[in-house]
Amino acid sequence: MYSITLTAGPIARARNGVIGKDGGLPWRLKTDLANFRAVTMGKPVIMGRKTWDSLPKKPLVGRTNIVLSRDGSFEPKGAVVCEEFTEAVAIGREQAAEDGAREVCVIGGASLFELALAKAGRIYLTDINAEIEGDTQLCPIDETRWTEVSAKAYPASEDDEYPFTIRILERR
Ligand SMILES: NC(=O)c1ccc[n+]([C@@H]2O[C@H](COP(=O)([O-])OP(=O)(O)OC[C@H]3O[C@@H](n4cnc5c(N)ncnc54)[C@H](OP(=O)(O)O)[C@@H]3O)[C@@H](O)[C@H]2O)c1
Repeated sequence: MYSITLTAGPIARARNGVIGKDGGLPWRLKTDLANFRAVTMGKPVIMGRKTWDSLPKKPLVGRTNIVLSRDGSFEPKGAVVCEEFTEAVAIGREQAAEDGAREVCVIGGASLFELALAKAGRIYLTDINAEIEGDTQLCPIDETRWTEVSAKAYPASEDDEYPFTIRILERR
């Protein structure tokens, strides 16, 4: 039996903590989206209802989509709905074990990241090197409790509006 790690993210955050605006992402970072796909593929993903609403194509293919909502009448097509975070994590872990996946990824938004950061063993974090206006913010991450195990910097380019660093942090 192998262990299944709960991850916070992939999270993309601006220097001022912004992660969203008007129900979407206030940046265009193609390389980061490709990283999101690569990291999450084959793994259960847990998200809030507004993040689900924000997806241009639902569900995220190749991944079990678990959506948190307190609205009992909400029935998203192609996703499992949960009313509690702990239940979502339990379902994610069961599904990961069945699929042979080693991680369950919490992919936002703000309150789910906060819940995940308290429990996760790993953070997939994209730090965008810009202050960007938005209406949704990530809670602070106490980096003294985490060790950076990987970091790769990318410049701004035709595909990517801002420079950014894709990092992986492990809980100490
Ligand atoms: N940059 C990033 O990495 C990133 C990642 C994800 C999302 N985003 C952005 O963030 C924004 C959306 O995030 P958000 O924080 O506003 O919303 P969200 O977390 O995606 O969704 C909030 C909704 O999820 C449900 N929910 C949240 N916590 C719950 C709990 N503990 N138990 C049961 N249900 C719960 C509720 O749904 P009901 O109202 O249906 O009850 C709540 O209204 C968008 O702009 C999106 O593009 C950014």
